[in-house]
Amino acid sequence: MTNDLKVTFPSGVVDYIFLPKDERKKNLFEHLAASYDRNHIVIVTNDHIAKLYEPLFKGYKMLVMPASERSKDLDTIGTLSRQLLEMGAGRNTLLIGVGGGVVTDITGFLASVYMRGVAFGFVPTSLLGMVDAAIGGKNGVNMGLNKNLLGTITQPKFILYDVRFLQTLPDVEWSNGFAEIIKYACIFDAQLFDELAGQHISFYKQDDEALRTLIEKCVAWKNNTVIADERETGVRKLLNFGHTAAHAIEKLYEVPHGKAVAIGMMIACIISERVADLDAEATERLKQILHQYQLPVSMAINTAKAMDVLLMDKKRRDELIDFIVLEKIGQGAIRSLPFDVVEKGLLAYSAIAR
Ligand SMILES: NC(=O)c1ccc[n+]([C@@H]2O[C@H](COP(=O)([O-])OP(=O)(O)OC[C@H]3O[C@@H](n4cnc5c(N)ncnc54)[C@H](O)[C@@H]3O)[C@@H](O)[C@H]2O)c1
Repeated sequence: MTNDLKVTFPSGVVDYIFLPKDERKKNLFEHLAASYDRNHIVIVTNDHIAKLYEPLFKGYKMLVMPASERSKDLDTIGTLSRQLLEMGAGRNTLLIGVGGGVVTDITGFLASVYMRGVAFGFVPTSLLGMVDAAIGGKNGVNMGLNKNLLGTITQPKFILYDVRFLQTLPDVEWSNGFAEIIKYACIFDAQLFDELAGQHISFYKQDDEALRTLIEKCVAWKNNTVIADERETGVRKLLNFGHTAAHAIEKLYEVPHGKAVAIGMMIACIISERVADLDAEATERLKQILHQYQLPVSMAINTAKAMDVLLMDKKRRDELIDFIVLEKIGQGAIRSLPFDVVEKGLLAYSAIAR
């Protein structure tokens, strides 16, 4: 298995560093010492991770934000920028985001705009961060209730993987990570779907190698998609499977991203049955696997309010919205759907979700 992988995206080369088991005994940052000057490094993390992994950060300059989706906003960018200035951080600074998707999104955005751009790297510590949020160069902040409204696509210099972090990850966050893993299986990989259907979270928690292989598989799916379409004009849209409805749900109900994606995938399957001939059995299989990975399948949603959010969606084109459907398990497709088709799908979901 490769421990170091260089991936070339249209806008930059990213070094993927997968720490082998025995190497993980070392201090994580020792792996970066050969390439980066410690004096130029500023760690960005949240108060939860800063406390949990205090010894790891000893001797490093730190920016610490509150651990909450609510701090993924411009106020935090302003606060952290002022702190960087006070530290004397210049163009040669390297920001390293250590945390879940909120921390890596903030770090990527901050690094992209501070002094018109400084280098950055990621150490994802949540499963969702490892399989999705840290990869692909999208970063950004929310604006009020509008998720990821402001952002850039800028690639990090490196992403360093150490599955040891997952030992402290709460169960609920394992489930949230599996929502994105199940998403990859749905749109790209029927074999992976079968593998997941035959396992449980506890198996991956106990088997380091199986977990690592699973993460690497997801990294490969996301990398290949982003290499082909970094600016999301085509195939990258597939990664939005379950995410169109999820964004509306996250905005209206403050549900964590993974859970919102799980419900969004259920809604997308119900719509897929109507517009893409998806077999009802596939929707049932998705429902089953979401249950298995302790993810929600049903939630009462205010359809009118959800439609109001969808009408503001970034993926909207006049009266149509780019919506990701499933043709079968392992095969996603992009469809331009009229809003009323999505609305009918949402109503059909709401009728069974009550
Ligand atoms: N940029 C992208 O392409 C992309 C893709 C998917 C999601 N996202 C974004 O990612 C965010 C969701 O990411 P997330 O699910 O990682 O949420 P998160 O960053 O909020 O982390 C979830 C919780 O887990 C804690 N945590 C993280 N690692 C831990 C560890 N090792 N031990 C103990 N606790 C730990 C965090 O402190 C936090 O409380 C959302 O803002 C979403 O919009 C971005």
